[in-house]
Amino acid sequence: MKSPNRHKHKQKTTGSKASSHARPGSTPRPGQKSPQKSTGPKSGKAPRPDAIHLSKQLVKAWEDTLLKTFRPRRGSGGARPDNTDGAQRASRLKQALMQETDTILELWEIFTKDRGRLSRYLLTTRQHVVGYLLGFHLPNAARMQVLLHRTLRRLPLAEGLKRCSEIRVSDIGCGTGAMAQTLVVELAMTGVSPAKMRISLSDVSPPLLETAADSITALNMPLTVSTHRKRAEELPIIQFQDQPPGATSIGGQGLGAGPVAHIYTFGYVWNELRKNPAAQRRIHSILAGHIERGEVALVLIVEPGTELQARDAMQLRDELTASRWSAVYPCPASSPCPMLERPKDWCFSEAAWTRPALVEMIDRRLGIDRTQIAAGMYAFATPALTELAGFGTTTRQVVVGRPLRDAADGTPTRKSPTPLPRERVRQRPFEYLVCTPDGLAKVPQVKSPTGSPAQMQPILRGSLLST
Ligand SMILES: C[S@@+](CC[C@H](N)C(=O)[O-])C[C@H]1O[C@@H](n2cnc3c(N)ncnc32)[C@H](O)[C@@H]1O
Repeated sequence: MKSPNRHKHKQKTTGSKASSHARPGSTPRPGQKSPQKSTGPKSGKAPRPDAIHLSKQLVKAWEDTLLKTFRPRRGSGGARPDNTDGAQRASRLKQALMQETDTILELWEIFTKDRGRLSRYLLTTRQHVVGYLLGFHLPNAARMQVLLHRTLRRLPLAEGLKRCSEIRVSDIGCGTGAMAQTLVVELAMTGVSPAKMRISLSDVSPPLLETAADSITALNMPLTVSTHRKRAEELPIIQFQDQPPGATSIGGQGLGAGPVAHIYTFGYVWNELRKNPAAQRRIHSILAGHIERGEVALVLIVEPGTELQARDAMQLRDELTASRWSAVYPCPASSPCPMLERPKDWCFSEAAWTRPALVEMIDRRLGIDRTQIAAGMYAFATPALTELAGFGTTTRQVVVGRPLRDAADGTPTRKSPTPLPRERVRQRPFEYLVCTPDGLAKVPQVKSPTGSPAQMQPILRGSLLST
């Protein structure tokens, strides 16, 4: 059922056009003067209480991987730093940033202007791997953390996974392993034993695969990790079904009591497969197999939050729900996406992020500010998983847009391009476009996420209206 007032919306209420705050495409290009430089704690804009933090374990593993991968230019620096020497580590990490700033800029240009060239670049050298690790690994890990936090908080998924005997994680197009690495840390934090996890990393690039394996190994957890140098279109379907020694039937019992769970992560890779129908078909058939065999499976997708890529992800979402996957994040229901019918709208999620010190330094060098991150984020579960975890019917109202005229936080908009001084920021509530199990609806804000009307901050897309 659709929202009764759906057709009355004359305003553009979603996507970057309607956003008053941290549009996915609004981050200035590196090197340009950033109007957002004034965000964040030092700038007078209040820090958000709902900002996420990456775990120390994950950040340390990232640093260790960087230190292992980075090679200083000849003549520029001493021996590889000892793990225990904090000052030497910090100085080597800074040296990596100084040396590879241009590489990060080059990759950034490809990401924002010409994504088609991306794989070729990533495939080439260790230097590009270091550039990717520095510029993109942790922000992507933060996006995956947001997806997992929100999904696991809303639904008793972790309880279902804890009852599984084995968890097979497949990170497709793993790059430097940010998706699998975050998943492992988050699942372990919810009480899922790492010893049950088997991690398969697949990508086309040997140096990326090697680094992804290092990223996971650096977590120092008792996991099983394997790498597969394979194009998505060549992934052997059987690889994801076969049982380890001692395990019993597919979809039945694994290493101990309880079913085997299959988790797939796709981080910023679906958009690279846009012109690759063979890869898309292969992925659809791997995923369809889990539905057909009645297996416990979860799919986690992170895609750019920009119009074209986000709408492609929405399309993929509808294809998966049509094949009986349940949309468990951000959607409150698995009926066809009501935003796909609105040609100027697109669905993406936003979150505030407390950047580690080195990432702040990277952002300063690039002239950008990623205290707020955005992405198309989705989670899907098989009927066997929803049953195991005991999902009930939902009444969730998910924020998917903020109308322009309600940009009350003083952030520049097209209509009011000058930022409002803090004292003039209006205190009246925002109005939101929300996705409900019955379709889209416009709803006034009931509560500020900061709890303080003096610092009325918008609820970020992908959050529940009542948070
Ligand atoms: C933008 S990177 C994302 C890496 C990582 N998933 C992340 O979230 O940070 C896209 C990755 O997809 C890989 N890739 C591109 N086309 C692929 C294909 N046909 N099969 C497998 N991997 C592919 C690239 O090598 C690259 O590592």
